[in-house]
Amino acid sequence: MTLMRLPDSPIIAVSGFAADLLNGLQQRPRSVSPKYFYDEAGSQLFELICELPEYYPTRTELGILAGHAEEMAAVIGPAADIVEYGAGASRKIRLLLDALEAPRRFVPLDISGEHLQQAAQRLREDYPGLQIQPLVGDFTHNLALPPAVGRRVGFFPGSSIGNFEPREALGLLSRMASSLAGGGLLIGVDLVKTPAVLHAAYNDAAGVTARFNKNLLLRANRELGADFDLDAFAHYAYYNPIQQRIEMHLVSLCRQVVRLCGERIHFAEGDSLHTENSYKYTIAGFQTLARSAGFTPQAVWTDPAQAFSVHWLAAPEGGRS
Ligand code: AVJ
Repeated sequence: MTLMRLPDSPIIAVSGFAADLLNGLQQRPRSVSPKYFYDEAGSQLFELICELPEYYPTRTELGILAGHAEEMAAVIGPAADIVEYGAGASRKIRLLLDALEAPRRFVPLDISGEHLQQAAQRLREDYPGLQIQPLVGDFTHNLALPPAVGRRVGFFPGSSIGNFEPREALGLLSRMASSLAGGGLLIGVDLVKTPAVLHAAYNDAAGVTARFNKNLLLRANRELGADFDLDAFAHYAYYNPIQQRIEMHLVSLCRQVVRLCGERIHFAEGDSLHTENSYKYTIAGFQTLARSAGFTPQAVWTDPAQAFSVHWLAAPEGGRS
């Protein structure tokens, strides 16, 4: 996101969506960052995904948090100053807040401002003693946090780390390790499993994931005046067991030309726009990644079926506060 100053107006945030989408469509293979799924409509569709019978990650992680909140609170310790990376609805943090000893502050960080304010307001009502300081921004670009008021604790649930290429994940986790110095990171990570289970989770019978995927095109139409025909693209999601990731694509169903920002974008039948990767890890594989980033894995919790994992990673001492 770029900050732009217009004459006689406050500083406003201009989304990099237009430039990123145009660039991504001109690359081969065509791709765009999944962070652009999350406008207001996309964030709402994601909430619906979390309720789907096939989409096990949210439900499973909630079960792990609910079942082990006391142990998590014990390793985290008192006076936590919590930052949640990509805070959506606040169900998960509530489980943690209810178990923690005298948490000092909660800083939900999200790219979708409206969504964030609503959740923050509900939290203020329910946790009157807690400082709640929402921050709108893109944590992939900037991890600058307000000065610490307690022990730095990062909360990164939902396996959003899976959206990053392993190299990028290493970079992001390394920056988190230094900005959380002296504290740690509680992170949810989806696990490698039978492809059929993964396939169903990203190809739900009700078609909500397809709508979520296509919302990217709808958003381009709404925000950028593009003319994507949503019926001319298919939602295509599959598990790639070599790279241990779900890939989501939008595949053109015909030869077509789309107008975007004054450009004519050509698609042949079968051409794909790659919209998301969702990497899956083994517990040991993720711990190795975390160690490379400078963390010390100290605890891990899973569900009985080992579908999902929640890790407590201690950040190194020193560095920035
Ligand atoms: C929010 C990135 C964890 O990868 O499972 C859900 C997003 N995409 N269904 C995931 C998503 C399609 C989700 N993450």
